[in-house]
Amino acid sequence: MVEARCTGCYNPQRMNILEARRVSKIYRMGKVTVHALNEVDFTVAEGEFVAIMGPSGSGKSTLLHLLGGLDELSEGEIILAGHRLAELDDHRITLVRRRNVGFIFQFFNLLPTLTAEENIALPLLIDGQDPRAYRGRIDHLLQLVGLTDRRHHKPDQLSGGEQQRVAIARAFVTNPAIVLADEPTGNLDSKTGEEILCLLRRSCDELHQTIVMVTHDARAASFADRVVFLMDGRVVGELRTTGNRSEDIRAIQAYLRDSEQAAEAKTLRLS
Ligand SMILES: Nc1ncnc2c1ncn2[C@@H]1O[C@H](COP(=O)(O)OP(=O)(O)O)[C@@H](O)[C@H]1O
Ligand SMILES: [Mg+2]
Repeated sequence: MVEARCTGCYNPQRMNILEARRVSKIYRMGKVTVHALNEVDFTVAEGEFVAIMGPSGSGKSTLLHLLGGLDELSEGEIILAGHRLAELDDHRITLVRRRNVGFIFQFFNLLPTLTAEENIALPLLIDGQDPRAYRGRIDHLLQLVGLTDRRHHKPDQLSGGEQQRVAIARAFVTNPAIVLADEPTGNLDSKTGEEILCLLRRSCDELHQTIVMVTHDARAASFADRVVFLMDGRVVGELRTTGNRSEDIRAIQAYLRDSEQAAEAKTLRLS
């Protein structure tokens, strides 16, 4: 397992692959309005691995969906790989998403009737490409995720960790500008989760893959270069990791503890 990280992984001079400016998202359901996100500013540099943390309901998934063009924002703007999402119609957003974004979900979302390699090739098929022209890339990805000998297995013939590795290869197959992962280890035991995180870390270090990962787990977040904290739909803090994992985990846990205490104190003052 590779734990090394590239020393030059974050370079402030590097181009931003993703910029969210004063992004708000309001859900209206009858008379109830939920401010899921409130004027969020968030940028990701090319080649960076960013974790988004926050309590349940703080807006993490909403932010990830907006960043990937899966949902429409209420206010603000998002620029993804040079495309201003608000200016595009649905069809153009779909094209931008297909060609620039890879998604990894908590529950893998593989098609049960397709083999591992067919699942990996699916984004190419959907984009109208001939997967046979990408044989080399698919072989390389199978090797990267350690599933060369499982290529003909269907999802129900694979373990949870193996299924998530197929999902990672599928997210990478179009060579996307950015990979967005929502709790990718949330449904895995800690050892398997650690393997998945090492794989994401390696893909950032060795393939310079840009990654944004939502997690509520300090251990998972410590694999990232930077951790952004959300609370009640707002960005409330940020922490840059050092590469020393146990030190980073302690720093993230301390931050979470402090912000929880501050939130409790605020609630007490209000009540
Ligand atoms: N489709 C939706 N319709 C209405 N409210 C929603 C919808 N999706 C999320 N919300 C609300 O927005 C807030 C943020 O949700 P979410 O982004 O899923 O949080 P997290 O991923 O941090 O747990 C929550 O209060 C949630 O109930
Ligand atoms: Mg969520």
